[in-house]
Amino acid sequence: MGLLVKKPMNLLMQEASAEGEHSLKRSLTALNLTALGIGAIIGAGIFVLTGTAAANHAGPAIVLSFVFAGIGCAFAGLCYAEFASMIPIAGSAYTYGYATLGEFFAWIIGWDLILEYLFAASTVAVGWAGYFSRMMTLIGFPIPEALANAPYRIEGTHTLIRTGAIINLPAVILVLALTALLVVGIKESARFNNAIVAVKLIIVLLVIGFGFMFVNKANWHPFIPPIEVDAASGVSKFGWPGIFAGAGVIFFAYIGFDAVSTAAQEAKNPKRDLPIGILASLAICTVLYILMALVMTGLTPFKTLNVADPVYVALDAAGPGLAWLKYLTTIGAIAGLASVVLVMLMGQPRIFYAMSRDGLLPEMFGKVHPKFKTPYIATIITGLVAAGVAGAFPIGLLGELVSIGTLLAFVIVCAGILVLRYAQPDLHRPFRTPFVPFVPIGGVLVCGWLMWNLPRDTWLRLLIWMALGLVIYFAYGRNHSKLQNAQR
Ligand code: ALA
Repeated sequence: MGLLVKKPMNLLMQEASAEGEHSLKRSLTALNLTALGIGAIIGAGIFVLTGTAAANHAGPAIVLSFVFAGIGCAFAGLCYAEFASMIPIAGSAYTYGYATLGEFFAWIIGWDLILEYLFAASTVAVGWAGYFSRMMTLIGFPIPEALANAPYRIEGTHTLIRTGAIINLPAVILVLALTALLVVGIKESARFNNAIVAVKLIIVLLVIGFGFMFVNKANWHPFIPPIEVDAASGVSKFGWPGIFAGAGVIFFAYIGFDAVSTAAQEAKNPKRDLPIGILASLAICTVLYILMALVMTGLTPFKTLNVADPVYVALDAAGPGLAWLKYLTTIGAIAGLASVVLVMLMGQPRIFYAMSRDGLLPEMFGKVHPKFKTPYIATIITGLVAAGVAGAFPIGLLGELVSIGTLLAFVIVCAGILVLRYAQPDLHRPFRTPFVPFVPIGGVLVCGWLMWNLPRDTWLRLLIWMALGLVIYFAYGRNHSKLQNAQR
């Protein structure tokens, strides 16, 4: 019975305001939450993926890809903001799903969010390790190849091949160190995050500000390169289709603003500050991304950006005038990517915490440390798994899986807002998504469209992951669900 049982709003409200030894500590301000959002957003997407997306898909019009993906995220962000202000609980989209669509969908979203948070932490840790290893080489302490690379790489679309390396040690160490920080305290973690977010913001602003002075406008012409068809494969690129394909790739750059909502039970004034954190971080990053994409494609012909460190390459093309800045970008990327990993590693255990509180996961996931007031067991499990994945697998395999998982969550959240507006119109909504039903429907369409354009193998992996989740739900969650047991 009761696959579609919904968690009553009054129960959620009680949980949101609960205090005591099993509760998390409320210490985050609007500024901390905005910094968490920016911490999670600016990372591998802008520092790594923008270049390949411009070179292979959209040319200078990658700027328009950023606008298009940004619109989809703005729709989703507005829907998240309504939910987060109404149901300020750590579980984020999982909890929103439980309240609106029922337990079965909630489980699906919760399971799906693992793809977003845990896998994003691993993906970005791998990106971080790349920058870190290069910096160590630059300063004369190279890390041996066998210890700085994944033991597996992917060939074609799905064949895993051994590389001869043993482990990506820097990625593993980063994940474990940040996990330790997250166990010790949310406030300590937020403080560390604030510092590294400041570093990365300053460097992004310097790149934009100084970069504009060296732009060669000829590089922006034609802004939308004409469609090119590869004679051998028949694959086309550029033109308007290239802009949409590019949007699918750089969508990854926007992932993370929703992570703010997982800190709901640690926010001092969640009803007001969560919408601020979600929307302000998204708005700031959207503007920065568009400017950054303009600068990068203005500094150098876009085809030269098909590298792992496109910001460096773009600044390099500007000549000696910007040499000082290109080294700083390495520091910006190292700080930037570390904060993404931190916030993703923060988000995941809080979703586990909420799922365990509902009985859908074993009780230990909901255990709060008596002194630190953090969900420490869930944090440690997340950290160990994320470290294992980061140590073993290459970045390409993981990135698209993260995007499809996140897009699915966005689609469900937008649909959830619509459902709840009609099902329970009178609920108190401290923040209301504007222009309903257009914004949520727009969110479903844009995010759905981006999903649709992802490769078939990524869809297949999503389906396999979801099938695994269903097995676990029917074997465990369904029988242990507190809500279902209360009704039995
Ligand atoms: N938005 C994050 C990044 O680009 C996940 O690294």
